[in-house]
Amino acid sequence: MSTPFVTPRTFTMSDVGAIAQEIVAALHGGDAVLLSGELGAGKTTLAKAIAAALGVRETITSPTFTLMNVYTTNHPHISTLMHMDTYRMERVEELAEIGVNTYMGEPSTVCIVEWPERFPDAWHRARTAHWFTVSGTGETRTIQAVTATA
Ligand SMILES: Nc1ncnc2c1ncn2[C@@H]1O[C@H](COP(=O)(O)OP(=O)(O)OP(=O)(O)O)[C@@H](O)[C@H]1O
Ligand SMILES: [Mg+2]
Repeated sequence: MSTPFVTPRTFTMSDVGAIAQEIVAALHGGDAVLLSGELGAGKTTLAKAIAAALGVRETITSPTFTLMNVYTTNHPHISTLMHMDTYRMERVEELAEIGVNTYMGEPSTVCIVEWPERFPDAWHRARTAHWFTVSGTGETRTIQAVTATA
């Protein structure tokens, strides 16, 4: 167990980049960022900002339908970003079927997972799994670091 590294806060769209930079500054290769929150809470928006903070130059698209997207970053220790969404998955076996194990816990890869709570026990391959909740509607959202499990 390690200490969650983002203090709870309420933020607007214009603060997303700064929060993402804080998260990236504390991440190690092999870590997972698990983003829980209602439909439309802002998980993909935060994932896009984390990708930008990692130096991903490609356009980040929501993995709601593609399930998993993989990007090359431009960062000294983290070379790959995997971004996935389990919302449309029915069975835990689908994670292995789409190739999650190729990325989760790999030393130079960071994985972002939307809807991680659908398969709460599936993320143990990560070096550290950092659980966040994103909540709220309208102009502001709230992020909380819930736990970090190693
Ligand atoms: N911090 C924020 N402040 C204000 N609006 C935001 C914020 N983050 C996201 N939004 C808005 O909320 C909407 C939904 O955001 P987003 O797609 O990131 O949600 P999501 O949690 O990924 O949803 P889903 O569960 O469907 O994957 C977008 O239109 C976005 O502009
Ligand atoms: Mg989303």
